[in-house]
Amino acid sequence: MFDVEKIKKDFPILDQEIYGKKLVYLDSAATTQKPKQVINEVSKFYSSLNSNIHRGVHYLSIKSTEEYEKSRDTVCKFINAKHTEEIIFTKGTTEAVNLTAYSFGERFVNEGDEILVAKTEHHSNIVPWQMLCYRKNAVLKVIPADENGELKINEYKKLLNPKTKLVAVAHIANSTGVINPIKEIIDAAHNNGTYVLIDGAQAVQHKQVDVQSLDCDFYAFSGHKMFAETGIGVLYGKKEILEDIPPYQGGGDMIKTVSFEKTEYADLPYKFEAGTSNYVGAISIAKAIEYMQSVGLDEIEIYEKKLLKYATDKLLSIDKIKIYGQTEKKISAISFLLNGIHHYDTGMILDKLGIAVRTGTHCAEPTMKHFGIDGTVRASFAMYNTKEDIDKLYEGLMRVKKMFA
Ligand code: ALA
Repeated sequence: MFDVEKIKKDFPILDQEIYGKKLVYLDSAATTQKPKQVINEVSKFYSSLNSNIHRGVHYLSIKSTEEYEKSRDTVCKFINAKHTEEIIFTKGTTEAVNLTAYSFGERFVNEGDEILVAKTEHHSNIVPWQMLCYRKNAVLKVIPADENGELKINEYKKLLNPKTKLVAVAHIANSTGVINPIKEIIDAAHNNGTYVLIDGAQAVQHKQVDVQSLDCDFYAFSGHKMFAETGIGVLYGKKEILEDIPPYQGGGDMIKTVSFEKTEYADLPYKFEAGTSNYVGAISIAKAIEYMQSVGLDEIEIYEKKLLKYATDKLLSIDKIKIYGQTEKKISAISFLLNGIHHYDTGMILDKLGIAVRTGTHCAEPTMKHFGIDGTVRASFAMYNTKEDIDKLYEGLMRVKKMFA
């Protein structure tokens, strides 16, 4: 049984007042809060086991290494990857995309080749590809979107051609919550001999992901958006591709042997993990996964769908509100504007009422430009949000409207 009150109690930060008002946290697409199970695990690790991984023969180093590698295994099973060495720990989604753009780009992208990105991407899934295109004299092309922020799939298919080397799309658009039809995107790309990277930063905390059934070539996500620590993320890549592409960064732990004449790189996954990894972050991801699984991924998805419907209906009952990305195919985020009221003003007044939302472009300037606006207010939910949180948001918005009447 999904028990939101019980879940909420696991997140200590939610139990506080901001400006004398009970905190209503509606900014989980920016970062999720952490359950005490994750916080305690990190604290326990630092208090009893901490030592650098892969380096020592002593007890603590061996234990740290074991915990780190166990975390890789947990992530592997969580997204149903075929091999544990397909899981690369990175700083986050951004580093995972940059790694792919560099390493895949070095190996596969040449002058005149094309990279396809969606119009509704986060900057982190645009700029690294743009940098690759500058470097290689390749061409960045854009999959168009409609007025609801849904991708125009027929147009996408027409853009695929023999020069298209890779398609990079978000599983779920961060600024609107719209779910992209990634399976169709992947299948069409593969029929064209094109590789696919999926940015899953907004997906893994809301729904079960299976990289083998998706058949994507790369899948990236961040710890801090899935109830784990910040500064840690994951790049999944198919083994045969990861083996074929060069490392992204050089340093300790990514080598077999080093001499001034020649360096031999380590096998997967270490080839892509130069330097001391954020092993405590990786352990926090494993704990966060255990936590989500104890609640149930399907249960989380069902609950959040109901909450989204409740919130959408409630917000749409407000006169002159416009929701950007209004479609059935979305996760629990609502991007909106109250007619004539700047998003910053709305966000600042909500803040004084204890309600945390994100305002602005959400690191997705091209998406905002597509909608012909300079930003929105985004209320985004996670498994710990309640109908009462939505009611508070509604009341807050009514207050904003009254102040600007
Ligand atoms: N990418 C994060 C967001 O969507 C920060 O807010």
